[in-house]
Amino acid sequence: MLIFTRAIVTGGSSGIGAALVNILLRAGVEVIALSRTVADFSGHEQAENLWQIPCDITNEEQLAAAVERISEKWDYCDVLFSNAGFGISGTVVSTEKSQMIKQFDVNFFSAVSLIQKCLPLLRKAKKPRIVVTSSVAGEISIPYQSFYSASKASLNMLALALNTELASDEIKVIAVMPGDCQTGFTDNREKNPETWACYERSEARSIKKMEKDERAGYSAEFVAGRLFRYARKKRPKALYGVGLSYRLLLVAYKIFPIRLTGWVVSKMYG
Ligand SMILES: NC(=O)c1ccc[n+]([C@@H]2O[C@H](COP(=O)([O-])OP(=O)(O)OC[C@H]3O[C@@H](n4cnc5c(N)ncnc54)[C@H](OP(=O)(O)O)[C@@H]3O)[C@@H](O)[C@H]2O)c1
Repeated sequence: MLIFTRAIVTGGSSGIGAALVNILLRAGVEVIALSRTVADFSGHEQAENLWQIPCDITNEEQLAAAVERISEKWDYCDVLFSNAGFGISGTVVSTEKSQMIKQFDVNFFSAVSLIQKCLPLLRKAKKPRIVVTSSVAGEISIPYQSFYSASKASLNMLALALNTELASDEIKVIAVMPGDCQTGFTDNREKNPETWACYERSEARSIKKMEKDERAGYSAEFVAGRLFRYARKKRPKALYGVGLSYRLLLVAYKIFPIRLTGWVVSKMYG
């Protein structure tokens, strides 16, 4: 397993990102965390190793300024955890273009921009890693969360392509796909209030089910532990599921005919 000394984490203020910050600090890693709000880590024994920079990652100027400040402090960074994200829900037919753009802006375009900006710092590390928090929904398209699914599928494609593009720099890019996890993600989901009457009942039923599953999901600490573990692997894969049940689900989704998997998904979320 690799040993890191410096890590950047986006979305470190809550949920999986906050749990990851705790794990990294406990492991003696210096951490710089970016999110719009600053969280209270003052009780942590290694709190002096954490620097939180308030930053909306969708704001190019704020992001550029944050990375500039990091570059003034650090001459290299071992690992970038691009973890910030959120979800929207609603039918495809009634989702406004502005909401689709917002979904992709936070989850995908800002992750790309962050990676671009942090690349000079990563290239100076010995075994650099980029870890993006994707989702099982990036492989298995979830009805009424199609734009969330699409944004996470885009991250998976990004990780696969970057592994080739950055091979000469020995940078490994890993997309980690958690399933349901108990965090503020569920309450922070932006639900589209507009819907066609004919889809109203199935949409409401589906969202209720996904919320129930998330609230009963893995702990943020468990998922964050996996992010840290995969990042430290000497020869990591480009894509990882999190937890045995989701890893089996992802394998089944690849093996079984698409008609069958589509039927199962529509039984679960239709
Ligand atoms: N929870 C699940 O079931 C689940 C499952 C699979 C994947 N994921 C993924 O896991 C990642 C972490 O989510 P979570 O579950 O830990 O939810 P969370 O508790 O809501 O955390 C989301 C984090 O992203 C940050 N963030 C959101 N928009 C941002 C912006 N514009 N600029 C900067 N930071 C921003 C938030 O910080 P501020 O609000 O302070 O900006 C927060 O720290 C996300 O990418 C999510 O898609 C979650």
